[in-house]
Amino acid sequence: MFDLETLILDFPILDQSIQGRRLVYLDNAATTQKPMAVLYSSRHYYEAINANIHRGTHHLARLATDAFEKARQTIATHLNASTPDEVIFTSGTTDGINLAANILALSGKIKAHDEVIISTLEHHSNIVPWQMLCERTGAVLKVIPCHEDGTLDQAAFTSLLNERTKILSLTWISNAFGTVNPVFEMTAAAKQVGALVMIDAAQAAAHLPIDVQTLGADFIAFSGHKVYAPTGIGVLWGRTEVLNLLPPWRGGGEMIKEVTFAKTTYNDLPFKYEAGTPNIEGAIALAAALDYVNGIGLDEIHRHEKNLIKTAAEALSSIPGIHFYGPSDRSGALSFNVDGIHHYDLGTLMDQMGVAVRTGHNCCQPLMARFSITGTVRASFALYNSEKDVIALAAAAEKAVSMLR
Ligand code: ALA
Repeated sequence: MFDLETLILDFPILDQSIQGRRLVYLDNAATTQKPMAVLYSSRHYYEAINANIHRGTHHLARLATDAFEKARQTIATHLNASTPDEVIFTSGTTDGINLAANILALSGKIKAHDEVIISTLEHHSNIVPWQMLCERTGAVLKVIPCHEDGTLDQAAFTSLLNERTKILSLTWISNAFGTVNPVFEMTAAAKQVGALVMIDAAQAAAHLPIDVQTLGADFIAFSGHKVYAPTGIGVLWGRTEVLNLLPPWRGGGEMIKEVTFAKTTYNDLPFKYEAGTPNIEGAIALAAALDYVNGIGLDEIHRHEKNLIKTAAEALSSIPGIHFYGPSDRSGALSFNVDGIHHYDLGTLMDQMGVAVRTGHNCCQPLMARFSITGTVRASFALYNSEKDVIALAAAAEKAVSMLR
């Protein structure tokens, strides 16, 4: 049941003033605020069960281990993974993509002149790890261009696919423009030529249900902090058959079966990829966050946010010289610029009016270059945003524009 007035009360941070005005938090694509259920989970962990996991024989170690593995199971269920062993805890999406790119680079399966496809819409974290893989292996990076409306050129994508294509790594939802890519169709097309597919679900995780078995990709990465959980925790989901053929990356405790100075044998999934003490509290809090959003329903949340984005675009469109980026059917983020005004100046003045937005290149410099801009003002939405927030956003933008003109 989506009762916004009650839901807002779950987020104590929102009940504060900035510069004497009610805080209007519209920087959710950067990070989301945390509900009481998550705050309670983290506090309870440290107050009641903190211990290292998978190691101790004592009571607290058992409690912490059970809670950590239960969290893995909750996440596997959320993703409809066929086994919790496919859920690898990471520090976030960047860490997950780097893990996948590094084990692929180390595997010897990617050779000189093989091709890796990404898109113009990617965040730096889904560009740079693949460039590094290409530098190491001699593979070639190919980039799917995008149209003026911020959607990907599907004809160009089709023409990039061939027998040399070994990896497609694609964002599900653009953090900069809110474009929702047709990941199901694009995954299926890449599979036709035998490529591995990685989906960057950093933004999608907070807005859409994810069913890894229906999606058909080989890897999915997302961050806890963008889906109402703490920073420093994330997940790389990987298909068992694929991960079992790939080598370990980081070495250390937990990822081993037996260590001698002559030779080390490696642990099974998921521990093979979890060297060192993980973010135990974060993993448990991520499960609490997913329980929280599932209690509301991601479909309901998405419907609510899409209505707000549409209303926000309509409300802002009366500002003379405003340009929006991305298709009208966007999710999560609404990016814009106003003729003759720098996005940073606009965002700074909006902050003075209590409205938190992101300004700048949104960690997507190549995308900004494609549109010949240095950045945008980006308002991004979460389940706790309201029509009142949209009105405040439009009023702040209008006032800031009139002050800057
Ligand atoms: N990826 C985050 C954003 O889009 C930091 O703002």
